[in-house]
Amino acid sequence: MTIVLGIESTAHTFGVGIVSDEPPYILADARRQYVPEKGGILPREVAHFFSRVAGEVVGEALSQAGLRMGDVDAIAVALGPGMGPALRVGATVARALALHFRKPLVPVNHAVAHIEVARFTTGLEDPVALYVAGGNTTVVSFQGGRYRVFGETEDIALGNLLDTFAREVGIAPPYVVKGMHAVDICAEGGSFLEEALPYVVKGQDVSFSGLLTAVLKLYRKGYKLSDLCYTLREIAFSMVVEVTERCLAHTGKKAVTLTGGVAANKVLNEKMDSMARLHGAIYKPVDVKYSGDNGVMIAITGLAAYKAGVTIDPRRAFIRQRWRIDEVDLPWYPWMPGR
Ligand code: FE2
Repeated sequence: MTIVLGIESTAHTFGVGIVSDEPPYILADARRQYVPEKGGILPREVAHFFSRVAGEVVGEALSQAGLRMGDVDAIAVALGPGMGPALRVGATVARALALHFRKPLVPVNHAVAHIEVARFTTGLEDPVALYVAGGNTTVVSFQGGRYRVFGETEDIALGNLLDTFAREVGIAPPYVVKGMHAVDICAEGGSFLEEALPYVVKGQDVSFSGLLTAVLKLYRKGYKLSDLCYTLREIAFSMVVEVTERCLAHTGKKAVTLTGGVAANKVLNEKMDSMARLHGAIYKPVDVKYSGDNGVMIAITGLAAYKAGVTIDPRRAFIRQRWRIDEVDLPWYPWMPGR
């Protein structure tokens, strides 16, 4: 049996997960989320929060699993992409644990981990994946040893679009409650506006900033908020589903998944499901428990990587704020625990 402890600290969540390659696979999932009193998150404040809670989150994960550090075979850590100060806390903790307990250290790309935890929880072997979160909007598919990017946002991410709109029109905090974003709640009873709004898909890439500006302009003109929320959501979701659909048609794959913080969204799930049906493909989103950032996804990916021989010298384990998903070799693909 191989046991891996994974550390996540790329954005607002400090998470520690422990997994093994034998049932029940997931042994621990401890996390703390930084929630700003108002406005966006400041990297330095997040790092300060992470440094305060890191020790107790590691301890909590070990006690959930009923293990001691000595029982762990390897330490995995998300080295990027993400916010520098936040990443540095996770990397420092991981390096210290690896050196002190003489454990191998496994570097993990956070974006790869969102896809891997989706493959793990859905049982889908080789899906096209739509990864949507506060800072990410990417369509990927495995090809030639890596996840290749088939489309992405040219400016802001889908999650950021919804959160920023919610904040600007005063329906924040935009946190997702049972798959309902503030924009979803507000969209109830709304209808589609016939005004020409920017639906921007260029080649395989999407752009949301023009849409955000245009919808905010209508808001200031006094348009009904429920109509604006409904329309914004319709356009933005249709854009990402269109790009995913083209990737599915192009690759000829038979499965689709949805992952990342926005994956809990009910309306987006319905659109993805009907698109997949049209192509005779299976659609399954990531288990909603692991859609947001967490340590389990880092541990699962770290376990797969470690078993395939991927490790890094702790003294050379530097963070990479802009580490792209298509720069990562996946020698373990499509292996996942239990398969
Ligand atoms: Fe994430």
